[in-house]
Amino acid sequence: MDNKPIVALDFSTEKEVTQFLKLFADTQLNLKVGMELFYQQGPAIIYSLKEAGHDVFLDIKLHDIPTTVKKAMTGIAGLGVDMINMHAAGGKVMMEEAREGLDKGTGPNQQKPLLIAVTQLTSTTEEMLRDEQRSVDTIHDSVLHYAGLARDAQADGVVCSTYEAESIGESLGESFLRVTPGIRLNPKNAHDQKRVATPERARELGSTHIVVGRSITQAADPVQSYLEVLRQWEGDK
Ligand code: C5P
Repeated sequence: MDNKPIVALDFSTEKEVTQFLKLFADTQLNLKVGMELFYQQGPAIIYSLKEAGHDVFLDIKLHDIPTTVKKAMTGIAGLGVDMINMHAAGGKVMMEEAREGLDKGTGPNQQKPLLIAVTQLTSTTEEMLRDEQRSVDTIHDSVLHYAGLARDAQADGVVCSTYEAESIGESLGESFLRVTPGIRLNPKNAHDQKRVATPERARELGSTHIVVGRSITQAADPVQSYLEVLRQWEGDK
């Protein structure tokens, strides 16, 4: 998967997906299939997006005992997705097993899917971390800790807010991916996200990939919004 913005297909029906993608004509896109779409449409939606030439990030955030995650990852590799994720909170052994399962399920002529660990959700606040997760760490330290654990477990990168992307790049290397959701063309429309940024700011702060949902899918003109995201993300080339 290249570093074009990843568009979150947060829809529940194939019809909505088809209508949305029609607007983009033949443009090849990086698309994210999350829980809403995958749990209702299943693997068929992945096959049809791949068939149409798109790259697919399957965002179903696996978090279970190591053996279950390993077996699930083996099956997911067979779907032909380009990127998949899991929760770092599942632990280092779970992430190692995820890597093993993914490698096992990848065919000889197939590109290995990128394995990404979710650190702290971009909807999580400092207060939630303290009061609900009972963590003594700040969000920044917690994200950095999980990123180190994910790197040790041979993951290719993490999902993090753009505010941790620079530190992660500095401490774990620029090739360790920092995939950032919570991107807004207008940061005043944060919805349920808490740690948001514009595409331009995400680029400046060192995210390697951005995930954009509602700023594009709910826009009056999704194609225009996508092009604006792309323009800000690419900067002056
Ligand atoms: O609409 P919005 O741009 O906020 O969508 C962000 C997308 O990224 C959603 O599909 C959400 O599930 C996903 N995501 C996230 N935070 C994470 C991982 C994935 O917001 N840590």
